[in-house]
Amino acid sequence: MSSAAPSATYRRLRGYARPYWGLIAAGMLAMALEAGASAGTLKLLGPIVDDIFVRHVFSYWLPGGLVLLLLARGLFGLVSDYTIARAGRGVARDLRLRLMAQYLRLPGARFDAEPVPSMLTRLGTDSEQVAQAAVDALKVMVSNVLGILATLAVMVWTSWRVSLVLLLLAPALAWMMSRVGQRYRMLNHEIQESSARMLQGADQALHAQQDVKAYGAQAAELARYAAETWRNLRLALKIEVTRGTLSMLVQVLGAIGVAVMLVVAGREAQHGRLTAGDFMTLMTAMVSLVPALRQLTNVQSMLQRGISSADRVFAVLDAEPERDAGTRPLARAQGLIEFRHVDARYEGSATPALRDVSFVARPGTVTAVVGRSGSGKSTLARLIPRFYEPAAGQILLDGHPLTDYPLADLRRQIAMVGQHVLLFDGSVAQNVAYGELEGSDEARIAAAVQDANAAEFVAGLPGGLHGHIGAKGGKLSGGQRQRLAIARAMLKDAPILILDEATAALDNASERLVQEALARLIPHRTTLIIAHRLSTIEHADQVLVLDEGRLVEQGTHAELLARGGVYAHLHAMQFREPA
Ligand SMILES: Nc1ncnc2c1ncn2[C@@H]1O[C@H](COP(=O)(O)OP(=O)(O)O)[C@@H](O)[C@H]1O
Ligand SMILES: [Mg+2]
Repeated sequence: MSSAAPSATYRRLRGYARPYWGLIAAGMLAMALEAGASAGTLKLLGPIVDDIFVRHVFSYWLPGGLVLLLLARGLFGLVSDYTIARAGRGVARDLRLRLMAQYLRLPGARFDAEPVPSMLTRLGTDSEQVAQAAVDALKVMVSNVLGILATLAVMVWTSWRVSLVLLLLAPALAWMMSRVGQRYRMLNHEIQESSARMLQGADQALHAQQDVKAYGAQAAELARYAAETWRNLRLALKIEVTRGTLSMLVQVLGAIGVAVMLVVAGREAQHGRLTAGDFMTLMTAMVSLVPALRQLTNVQSMLQRGISSADRVFAVLDAEPERDAGTRPLARAQGLIEFRHVDARYEGSATPALRDVSFVARPGTVTAVVGRSGSGKSTLARLIPRFYEPAAGQILLDGHPLTDYPLADLRRQIAMVGQHVLLFDGSVAQNVAYGELEGSDEARIAAAVQDANAAEFVAGLPGGLHGHIGAKGGKLSGGQRQRLAIARAMLKDAPILILDEATAALDNASERLVQEALARLIPHRTTLIIAHRLSTIEHADQVLVLDEGRLVEQGTHAELLARGGVYAHLHAMQFREPA
């Protein structure tokens, strides 16, 4: 991971707090008043002890004053907590929103490079820690520094001699804090990476649970997970030990301080320069310094954690989004698609996924793309909505390069139905009228559902069209999901239709329903069918045969059969297989 200098990162990170400066300033004012009230409480201890216990003079003023000061301290504390929390959570939310927007704009290749669970970590923990570093750390720092200064002021006011001796202990403390802080930063970085790996490992194994079971890979997956959880546990313990050591050191130093103070204060009292009340004030002040100092040591690790999170977050925010420089408006394309010597290559893979592919798909025609698995069919389809960019060559729509059009306009021309349909948490209607289709006429949604052969099962769902289909459409079968995707495409009514093995994962009965629906969807568009079963494409206007990324044959079904090449071979193989 490339990381900028921590100071540069921190400056940028503080920029996120800028919109909240008003709140933060109010919070700081409250902190100052809170520190003042605390100091007042401390100073009041002197007269309380001297008057009530030494001189036996009773008055309601002293206990009353104590209550008032503590009440004020509590109220100012509440105000500072609230304002800072508002600013901190505001920063976290701003950051999440920016990140999410950025993720949705990143090109497809980026999603191959960064797995989704790690994206979720950026949105979750990392955003939170950036907010803590940008705002919450400020609070801990300012409130404790103010508290310490106020306490020191009271101490000096009470007895400068005793205070001076105590202050000599401070540099040792500071040195130790910075040493331990460094180790902390390193450990935290490691544990966050480890947590992300842990999530990612579990995500893979759980998503592929059927394969894991089918291949008997439970033990191997578990072993891998166990290794990572173990690493995570050890790191967590190291962090705990670091933290514990730090707090122990602080407390030991505190105890030494108390001992030194007893010696010095005793001599001062002998000379009549220190009353019992003064001693009480000094003692309490010193004890209250310890937790404040200890909290200050947390600031360091909060900042460090925030900075390493911020490095990761900024790396995402700075990533190049999808290129979208086209300016040629496109209301409705005719649907003439032309590939000219197109190469495609995935990042990090040695061989290109497509090599020198050229063809034309005319409006109103069906182009079938066939080839073995891995021959580049899906890659070809993904280039049209510009999910990926070609490495060489050009793709044109209606005679102009795809890059001439604004991305949103281009994508509005394309409906895609793939092998795995992702539905979203919501109702059937919301899933059909998704994205820009939102707010479509109810009658049109119902018609699309009808045409997609989905009306019957939708009517059977509790709530019908407005019935909830569960997270990711989990309540529906593959064929049902497919038909909802077709309904979505019907409603979108785009001039270009891309079907990528839309029926490959279906059984025969639901395949027939889906095929019927597709037959209604296909006419009057430029259709690209990627098909597994060759029987579904016999009526295509042209067939493209891909092999290892090359377009090896092109023609109609009959022509290609007659030629006796790759297509004829694929065809013969399929018909030898039992249906
Ligand atoms: N996201 C990806 N990242 C890297 N390589 C990929 C990616 N998707 C596909 N490939 C590779 O590109 C080649 C073509 O894949 P694909 O277009 O999916 O083939 P098909 O759809 O014909 O099965 C294959 O070698 C595949 O491994
Ligand atoms: Mg494919």
